[in-house]
Amino acid sequence: MMPDTSRRVLSAQTAPHQDLSRRVGRALQYPLRKPVAEHTRIAFEQADAWRCRHLESPLIIDAGCGVGLSTRHLARRFPDNIVIGIDRSADRLSRDHGELPANALLVRADLIDFWRLALAGGWQPQRHYLLYPNPYPKPGHFKMRWPGHPVFPAIAALGGQLELRSNWKIYVQEFALALYQVAGIEVDVEEYQPENDFLTPFEAKYHRSGQPLWRLVATLPYRPGLLPIDR
Ligand SMILES: C[S@@+](CC[C@H](N)C(=O)[O-])C[C@H]1O[C@@H](n2cnc3c(N)ncnc32)[C@H](O)[C@@H]1O
Repeated sequence: MMPDTSRRVLSAQTAPHQDLSRRVGRALQYPLRKPVAEHTRIAFEQADAWRCRHLESPLIIDAGCGVGLSTRHLARRFPDNIVIGIDRSADRLSRDHGELPANALLVRADLIDFWRLALAGGWQPQRHYLLYPNPYPKPGHFKMRWPGHPVFPAIAALGGQLELRSNWKIYVQEFALALYQVAGIEVDVEEYQPENDFLTPFEAKYHRSGQPLWRLVATLPYRPGLLPIDR
């Protein structure tokens, strides 16, 4: 196999973003007013109808599932659960990565809308994975990272066992700080070894190029009240 030489995340940041606490505070105070895109509303309704046909099986969300390999792996690893993988890229979702297990569903949707619809629809995932989200490493793009985004309280409010993985330690540290500010939950940021049990293509390529991999796992209560109320 050719050696993989994926670049490490390059950023002017050497520590969590200095604006983190202020931005999380704003997300807790002001409702996110972005209207829900029609395509995501339709995708959510279809996903919700599928979920309702499997109410006996606890839900796993694979947020930003890319080509859906992790959705397939998780569905096989947790056969008593249903797994919904969500990604906005039709191109990635359409790539052929083998048959989709019967307990898995891939959905094309924008998470910024989908998470809010899921919360409003009473979804309570047992597990929630965010595997290698886009790092947006430029300091000026902090607000595009999930811990700096106004949708962050909705992610925490959904509850369940949340697992974030990234090859950029600072991203995971920022997520941990945001979780503490939003939900008062303290979690460790740990380096981990995937061995050969890769959950996603990004995990495999960063590991094969010798990069350390980071994660956090948080057990979150379902708390829809975390979302600020529209006044
Ligand atoms: C770096 S890739 C990681 C994909 C996969 N989890 C993996 O580890 O191989 C990040 C993924 O998040 C998706 N994504 C980013 N922002 C999104 C959004 N707002 N809504 C849905 N998907 C999004 C991208 O399309 C992309 O597939």
